[in-house]
Amino acid sequence: MVTRRAILWSGAGAVVLTGAGLAPLLHSDLSKARAPWRVAGTGFGDKRLDALSYAVLAPNPHNRQPWLIRLDGDDALTLYCDPERLLRDTDPQDRQIVIGLGAFLELMRQASAQQGYALETDFFPEGEPYPRLDGRPIATVRFVEDPPEKDPLFAHVLARRTSRTRFDQARPVTAETLNALDQALRPDDGEFEWVNDAENITALKAICREAWRIEVETAATRHESVILTRIGDDEINADPDGISLSGPAMEAARLIGMLTREKMDEVGSIAYQSTIDFYNGNIDTSMAFGWLSTAGNSRTNQLRAGAGWVRLQLAATGLGLAMQPFSQALQEFPEMAEIYEEIHDFTGVETPRTALAGRLQGLFRFGYAKPGPAAPRWPLETRLIAADA
Ligand SMILES: Cc1cc2nc3c(=O)[nH]c(=O)nc-3n(C[C@H](O)[C@H](O)[C@H](O)COP(=O)(O)O)c2cc1C
Repeated sequence: MVTRRAILWSGAGAVVLTGAGLAPLLHSDLSKARAPWRVAGTGFGDKRLDALSYAVLAPNPHNRQPWLIRLDGDDALTLYCDPERLLRDTDPQDRQIVIGLGAFLELMRQASAQQGYALETDFFPEGEPYPRLDGRPIATVRFVEDPPEKDPLFAHVLARRTSRTRFDQARPVTAETLNALDQALRPDDGEFEWVNDAENITALKAICREAWRIEVETAATRHESVILTRIGDDEINADPDGISLSGPAMEAARLIGMLTREKMDEVGSIAYQSTIDFYNGNIDTSMAFGWLSTAGNSRTNQLRAGAGWVRLQLAATGLGLAMQPFSQALQEFPEMAEIYEEIHDFTGVETPRTALAGRLQGLFRFGYAKPGPAAPRWPLETRLIAADA
């Protein structure tokens, strides 16, 4: 009997092999979308561009790549957030977007140190915007020829990946490994805590599953992700951001009309159910969890948490450890309120009553898996804005 499950994503390839032919499935080419990973640091003729070519590889929510950069004079730049790239439903306070910008600034700092430049950085030089970001700059940065200490984590920038495969169930993540991640954080980057015992892992899996269910069942948050989904190589190469679905099974499902944005948004469709099952598969194979929290929740705290986030991930990469954030439970949209309280209670992080109270900034699963391919990126030159902007 062919069960419904049998034709979900994993089986979609088989469906099309008999129907539409092999050729479009076997020829996958995302080299255009991945070009920024190949050209990073290859010599852009300007110290700032050389550093920025690494910064654009930073982790960032929904791969929105919200950074816009204005080069100022010979040795400075201003970082802005592109208002078109906010996530209004899943990130109603722009907190996650700011975390991504913090990771961007940290990679820029590491890459500059590598070239012998220290950075003088002012966060939010015209004030911190609340409750949403506005047109004011995120940071101004000046490059100073004063060779700082190089950061050993920089060695892992090109290998860093957000892992979305199932983790090896036979390989636990030891306390020693998790403590080594903690060593990557500097005092202002936030606090990292972790669990790797069966009872806590089971409890966190349940919270993450429930949070994921709520995000998908809430029409606005589901829709926000669906419209940012790129399906197949052509769409991903044309718009190298958002959530990308590629590979033979996805191409197959696309070719037979089973995988479309409309279908993903249709409650109960195979595409809808497959999306839920895919992510639950990630949750269920978590071998350890960790979380990053900050004592306050100012915009500057969020930028610093972004630095902490990417430093944890770089350290994990260096240890051969895979890491994936599960941000759903931490999100501020009203339907998530109960789970949001629950995860703050669970981790013992004070539930924020005001915008500035301390809070959880990131929740991650850890485990071992074969590293996946690099995620798409817009080329650096498309993120630069004119000097009179
Ligand atoms: C603040 C923040 C929240 C994120 N939340 C999630 C998440 O809930 N689930 C997930 O799979 N990835 C999440 N990510 C990872 C991004 O999707 C990822 O960084 C982006 O797609 C680029 O891929 P890369 O990290 O492999 O370069 C998050 C990243 C950031 C910075």
